[in-house]
Amino acid sequence: MPRPTIVIKSVANLSTEAMRRIEALVTLGDEVENEDLDQRLARCQKIAIAKVGDELTCTAALKAARPWKNASVSKMSGFTLSDDAVEFGYVVTHPEFRQQGMARDLCAKILETIKGNLYATVRSDNDSMRRILESNGFVKAGHAWASRQPDKSLNLWIRESISAEDV
Ligand SMILES: CC(C)(COP(=O)(O)OP(=O)(O)OC[C@H]1O[C@@H](n2cnc3c(N)ncnc32)[C@H](O)[C@@H]1OP(=O)(O)O)[C@@H](O)C(=O)NCCC(=O)NCCS
Repeated sequence: MPRPTIVIKSVANLSTEAMRRIEALVTLGDEVENEDLDQRLARCQKIAIAKVGDELTCTAALKAARPWKNASVSKMSGFTLSDDAVEFGYVVTHPEFRQQGMARDLCAKILETIKGNLYATVRSDNDSMRRILESNGFVKAGHAWASRQPDKSLNLWIRESISAEDV
C-alpha cells in the first residue's frame, strides 16, 4: 500500500470539489447528522485530508469555536467546557483503508497545529477513536449521555490547553 499524502488546509484554501469529496467521505462514515453538512464543513477552521493517489482516504477537522454548542455539550456531559474550546471531529477513514494507522497519523498531524482547549464527542464503544484521542493527550470528562442512535451513548473527551512548557 503506497503511503498516503497528508495535507492540512484552512477551508478557504480547499476547492469546491475537495469540499464535496470531504462531505461524501464524512457521509460515508455515518457518524454525524447529514443536515446542512456542507455548511457545517464550510465553517471549520482547518481540515486535514489523506490521499492515496487521487483517492480521498481519510479526513479530520478542527471546527470553529461555538459557545452555544459548547454549552449544549457541557449540559449533556456534566463537564463545563470553556467558550473558546474547539471541537475536533469529522474523523473518517474510507472503509477500504481502515486499520492501517491512517486516522492515527492524520489526527496526530492536525492536532499538532493547535495548542488551545479542545474537545470531541465520541460514541462510547468507538475503540479506535478512543485510542486516537488517548494517544493525542485527550482524557474522558463528565458522564456518558444517550446518542441519537438507538442503544448507543456518547462521551466527551477533552484536551486542555498545552502551555509552552509542555511542548
Ligand atoms: C474511527 C476511524 C476513523 C478509525 O480509522 P482508522 O484509520 O481505521 O484508524 P487507525 O488504523 O489509525 O487506528 C487507530 C487506533 O485504533 C486501533 N484500532 C483500529 N481498529 C480497531 C478496532 N476494530 N478495535 C480496536 N482498536 C482498533 C488501532 O490499533 C490504532 O491504535 P494504536 O495507534 O494504539 O495502534 C474509522 O473506523 C472510521 O472512519 N469509522 C467511522 C467514522 C467514525 O466512527 N468516526 C469517529 C467519529 S468521532
